[in-house]
Amino acid sequence: MPSDALVSHLNEQIGHEFAAHQQYVACAVYYDSETLPQLARFFYRQALEERDHAMMLVKYLLDQDVQAVVPGVGAPQVAFTDILAPVALALAQERQVSDQINALAAHARSESDYTSEQFLQWFIKEQVEEVATMSDLLRVVERSKDDPMEIENWLAREHPGGEAGDPTAPHAAGDGA
Ligand SMILES: [Fe+2]
Ligand SMILES: [Fe+2]
Repeated sequence: MPSDALVSHLNEQIGHEFAAHQQYVACAVYYDSETLPQLARFFYRQALEERDHAMMLVKYLLDQDVQAVVPGVGAPQVAFTDILAPVALALAQERQVSDQINALAAHARSESDYTSEQFLQWFIKEQVEEVATMSDLLRVVERSKDDPMEIENWLAREHPGGEAGDPTAPHAAGDGA
């Protein structure tokens, strides 16, 4: 069973993941309002992934028979200076989450809580992908910010959606498993 201190940090992470969900919805709505549907779709999808991350943490705490707290979250940023800003914000956010996950894994290991450490391994791998995806997108948006249709075409080509779910992902609370 995770220690009280780790449970409290895991609950904080649930808050960070829900906050990331809200932030990505805000980014998606901004792009939707700018009639950039591929950028909007990309962020709506990212938002759902963040919700899943939160619910995976909830499921883990439930499975460990400790308290899972559904938190309130702060208001996301909803106004952006240009179409680059939401992606730059998202990359900074993903880097921050990587640090948070690494700190959680280090905490688990320091307490010889190998069960929690193992649970967190998937998130470590996921963060490598999320940072890479967001930094690729930032490069593309920087290169083509004066020609947003190039960005839209790139997203339609490289991130068409309908990607298969990751079979190694932890179950999320409410996913029926
Ligand atoms: Fe996440
Ligand atoms: Fe993420």
